[in-house]
Amino acid sequence: MQPAILIINGPNLNLLGTREPGIYGTLTLAAIEETLRTRATELGVALDFFQSNHEGDLVDRIGQAPGKYAVIIINPGAYTHTSIAIQDAIRAAGVPAIEVHLSNIAAREEYRHTSLVAPACLGQIAGFGADSYLLALDQAARRLRA
Ligand code: DQA
Repeated sequence: MQPAILIINGPNLNLLGTREPGIYGTLTLAAIEETLRTRATELGVALDFFQSNHEGDLVDRIGQAPGKYAVIIINPGAYTHTSIAIQDAIRAAGVPAIEVHLSNIAAREEYRHTSLVAPACLGQIAGFGADSYLLALDQAARRLRA
């Protein structure tokens, strides 16, 4: 079986394409997922996707990851800045995670500068639009090969 990677998107990322395109671009989440699927095939890794606007659903899905997924790639949306629960879920699951953001959160409003999720992750990739996910996928695949 191919090693599997879970890509999780949090609140309002289902609105990509029309949501503040000047900040987040014009690609829909479905289009981003399609690009990721193509790249995953090239890399020889299996991908699953999950999006929810609800913190508890994100926590539940992370909790189900052990044994199923080798790496989690997560864009927690606004929960990045508020969710100790997501940080705890990643730590509890023990599955290596990579945090992703379309925008450069360090260059935005001050309340976006802190990530409560990042301390539980291997690292964070932010500011490269949809390419942030591709960079994270390459890094995840690299880890799986190591
Ligand atoms: C985001 C950045 C967050 O601050 C924001 O709340 C989002 C999207 C990003 O991908 O740039 O919903 O995670």
